[in-house]
Amino acid sequence: MKKNILVIPGDGIGQEVTKWGKAALEKIAELYSHQFSFDEAIMGHVAIEATGDPLPDETLNKAKNSDAILFGAIGHAKYDNDPSAKVRPEQGLLKIRKELGLYANIRPILLFDELLEASSLKPAILKGTDILFFRELTGDVYFGEKTKADDGSYASDLMNYHRYEVERIAVKAFEAARMRSKRLCSVDKANVLETSRLWRDVVQEVSKRYPDVETEHMFIDNAAMQLVKNPRKFDVVLTANLFGDILTDEASQIAGSMGMLASASIGDGTGFFEPIHGSAHDIAGKNIANPLASILSAALMLEISFGLKEEAKVITNAVADTLKTGYRTTDITNTSTAQDYILGTADMGAKVLEAIEAQKPIVQ
Ligand SMILES: NC(=O)c1ccc[n+]([C@@H]2O[C@H](COP(=O)([O-])OP(=O)(O)OC[C@H]3O[C@@H](n4cnc5c(N)ncnc54)[C@H](O)[C@@H]3O)[C@@H](O)[C@H]2O)c1
Repeated sequence: MKKNILVIPGDGIGQEVTKWGKAALEKIAELYSHQFSFDEAIMGHVAIEATGDPLPDETLNKAKNSDAILFGAIGHAKYDNDPSAKVRPEQGLLKIRKELGLYANIRPILLFDELLEASSLKPAILKGTDILFFRELTGDVYFGEKTKADDGSYASDLMNYHRYEVERIAVKAFEAARMRSKRLCSVDKANVLETSRLWRDVVQEVSKRYPDVETEHMFIDNAAMQLVKNPRKFDVVLTANLFGDILTDEASQIAGSMGMLASASIGDGTGFFEPIHGSAHDIAGKNIANPLASILSAALMLEISFGLKEEAKVITNAVADTLKTGYRTTDITNTSTAQDYILGTADMGAKVLEAIEAQKPIVQ
């Protein structure tokens, strides 16, 4: 298979982990005789420094002309501590999502048994958890009108949704539920928010087309509690942009670390694959970031954008094998991890490549 892949490492640890996601794709191409060609582009703080724009036109054009995008993260402490900065790294990310029409963010909460002890939750509560989040990505307070009084005494972010925006992601989530355990939980705040009442109305309407899927509606506050009380209760979770942002970070604790979770953002064109974590400037440049979320993002790209299920499974199995052997980055260690098995970013990435290589491809 021939594909053009754009790599956008971005800022902070994005630079360190994305090279291992890319390396996993290169290894798969080598083993399965695929022709993946790679191009690279800048976004975020590095792009502001170089061009004054967090998403330069050149990056956007390359993105639109690629078959899939492997992204790292954007962000820099400079902007986090300066809310008045007019040009900000995250503007690049929001713009590329809009421009590529990436309306559905898919986040599997994949729990490796080897990491049951790495979570802050009890293993007995976690074991067997397998959740697939569908977070809406192009609406909500992120894109509504923003106002701020000149004297700083008042600010507002408009929360809004259109029916079509809810419907298209609901359809994606119901389709996925149909392929899994046929259970879908839609999360909203319909007791308080008008946008949530619209959300619930549309989801109820779409659910009639999927009578084989059992649909539940849950308020966000309850869902946040249930997720840590009984995560196995959930299968496919469908939610709006802001609630999904928060719930999926909470769910990252189920998987042991932010460094373990991959995500896919899809629309009707080029797919965008990235770890759920940010640029983590507290650990950037120290070679301690966990590269597994980027590597698992590469697996999602193979499966979702290219339909290469077998190759995607090889990567996921390689991650599982590496963890089974006992290797850990610092974010997923526990008291029983032997010192020799605590690896930096580069060594962990290299171990996964070895584990990919060790699996004989079925298709040559
Ligand atoms: N999609 C994105 O690009 C994205 C998402 C979230 C935050 N951000 C940006 O990232 C910057 C930092 O934000 P934050 O600290 O709130 O979130 P973060 O996800 O960068 O980090 C949260 C915590 O998790 C740890 N962590 C994250 N990824 C890790 C990994 N791969 N391995 C080990 N530990 C990991 C970090 O060290 C930190 O303690 C900010 O500028 C923020 O705006 C970007």
